Amino acid sequence: MTCALDVERLFFSYDNFKLQDVSMQLHRGEQKAMVGLNGSGKTTLFKLMLGLLEPISGDTHVFERRVTNESLWEIRQDVGFLFQNPDDQLFAPTVWEDVAFGPRNQGLTEQEVEERVREALDVVKMSGYSDRPVNQMSHGQAKRVALAGIVAMRPRILFLDEPFTGIDFPMVKRIVQIIEELHNEGISVLYTTHNRFFLENWADSVIVLREGRVLFDGPIEEALSRQDVLDQIGDWEALQVEMQASRSRVRNIGCPP
Ligand SMILES: Nc1ncnc2c1ncn2[C@@H]1O[C@H](COP(=O)(O)OP(=O)(O)OP(=O)(O)O)[C@@H](O)[C@H]1O
Ligand SMILES: [Mg+2]
Repeated sequence: MTCALDVERLFFSYDNFKLQDVSMQLHRGEQKAMVGLNGSGKTTLFKLMLGLLEPISGDTHVFERRVTNESLWEIRQDVGFLFQNPDDQLFAPTVWEDVAFGPRNQGLTEQEVEERVREALDVVKMSGYSDRPVNQMSHGQAKRVALAGIVAMRPRILFLDEPFTGIDFPMVKRIVQIIEELHNEGISVLYTTHNRFFLENWADSVIVLREGRVLFDGPIEEALSRQDVLDQIGDWEALQVEMQASRSRVRNIGCPP
């Protein structure tokens, strides 16, 4: 089996939330969406896959290597994780230093690190911000810096937790291009989204979580043909009709003379 990621029967528990019997696979070169309502367990699953949380039981393999305390360092060289909130990800004093952190950890020479950082900042169009403190970045800028840090590491798998929230349209286009380029080079991508546009147009397949369990895992068209899945994604067309009806009612009211 050509698996980039193989998750087998994961169980995990916080005080008030359980992730139960979650299995999934990400094939090499596949681009997969992960969707589910707020609190359904998407970020928790990412953290388990990365070894940031420890499961009660179950296993995760990344390129056939089991995620354990011993293998973690090596595995993280292969996985680029874009956190949902970039503030959880950026910690160096400057943008440049932050992007350099990953490649330095990979043991590259300082010259190679410089090349990687320059290239990555250029890709996300943040070269002009090299010397700026990371805590002075806007949300969207911070996300771009975090993405640069990942690009600079040249990972084989990308985990992107809500990559497009709070990002302006030109940068959404740029991020799509960047990920497409990486994807075309054979990188496997798992991303979360609440936006149906990025589900329908960007994924080969989708895994749907409901209350910490896998509700569906398979092709997009099949997912969208199931009402129980649509309930987790949201019926955006029905909302549009409702909103337009409501707007026309407001217009009919008008202003009192
Ligand atoms: N550190 C924590 N301690 C206790 N409970 C937590 C912790 N982090 C998350 N939870 C709970 O675990 C559940 C799943 O959270 P998670 O962040 O995985 O959801 P999510 O699917 O990523 O949601 P969202 O769409 O809002 O990002 C939620 O009920 C949340 O309150
Ligand atoms: Mg989340």
